[in-house]
Amino acid sequence: EKGGFASFMEKEINDQPEAVAQTLLGRAGLDGKLELDELRIDPSLLKAVDKIIVLACGTSAYAGQVAKYAIEHWCRIPVEVELSHEFRYRDPIVDANTLIVAISQSGETMDTLMAVRYAQEQGAKVLAICNTNGSTIPREADAVLYTHAGPEIAVASTKAFLAQITAAYLLGLYLAQLRGNLFSGQIRDILADLGKVPAKIQAILDDADRIKKLARSMSDARSVLFLGRHVGFPVAMEGALKLKELAYIHAEGFAAGELKHGPIALIEEGQPVFVIVPSPRGRNSLHAKVVSNIQEIRARGAKTVVIAEEGDTAVQAYAEHVFYIPETPVLLAPLLATVPLQIFACELATAKGYDVDQPRNLAKSVTVE
Ligand code: F6R
Repeated sequence: EKGGFASFMEKEINDQPEAVAQTLLGRAGLDGKLELDELRIDPSLLKAVDKIIVLACGTSAYAGQVAKYAIEHWCRIPVEVELSHEFRYRDPIVDANTLIVAISQSGETMDTLMAVRYAQEQGAKVLAICNTNGSTIPREADAVLYTHAGPEIAVASTKAFLAQITAAYLLGLYLAQLRGNLFSGQIRDILADLGKVPAKIQAILDDADRIKKLARSMSDARSVLFLGRHVGFPVAMEGALKLKELAYIHAEGFAAGELKHGPIALIEEGQPVFVIVPSPRGRNSLHAKVVSNIQEIRARGAKTVVIAEEGDTAVQAYAEHVFYIPETPVLLAPLLATVPLQIFACELATAKGYDVDQPRNLAKSVTVE
């Protein structure tokens, strides 16, 4: 059942090309038009949405944070992402034009379920992005978009995360299509780029030996930091979460721009720092800014491990280790950049002798508040 892998986690990391492909499958017509009739929600309701609030916990909330960048860019609808357990206790502003997007792999997370119920009481419509057919959250939601990642057994979420981002992107494109925010040609192009993601993930998986070797060499690390910017920021937090929960190492993800506002004080000789570098092809200056962050921390003795896009030679001068991911549009990069971080955490925890499928103190679905 582990398909020849040592753990379910390793298998599920390797399932990711399929998880993304299956989540895309059958949802776009040959003409590149999205067909999400399965949502069974009145399109006029979706057209009237003036705010989206994503509710989720843990890794699923990071998927929501990635999706915020894409949905706001494509649809020009404000998207808030809130941890389910914080939402209900702050008197949130929710009405009939608010679309709640509840993201949950298990569909049984009590914090998210309670937040969904609260939002429905306030008159909001709830759309669930879920991996588990017939579970409680999609049953209670007004609409469901299933991720087709297949059952996720390992406690730490991997393939469900990539499938959640994929599904949330489909939702964003569908809203943009309904509301006329994007031309059909633009939607078709983005769908075509999404269609190329599984093969690119496979290329990263096929080339995992170096990152595994690095992971084994770092099993004594006491703290690892992760920096990212734009969509790389939630990826950094996800990389840190994987390391905490699997290898029991203190890890934190920061927005790279925040470095000089405090976290740079943590940098001392030998401190390992992962940096997720935005594409140099992006139309903003973020690449240069993050490269200068690498310089700053390197000058203070950090051991820099860089995830960058193939062909980005500018990072080499300041990086101890560089891992390249294939070229892809900026918004799709999280579907690739996350993978080396998952492999790193899985391999490091395995090197320490820990059970990566059953990390201590954790359960696969958290059915208590
Ligand atoms: C981390 C992890 C958890 C879950 C969180 C939400 O690897 O698995 O952070 O993402 O407990 O679970 P779901 O998505 O089932 O609601």
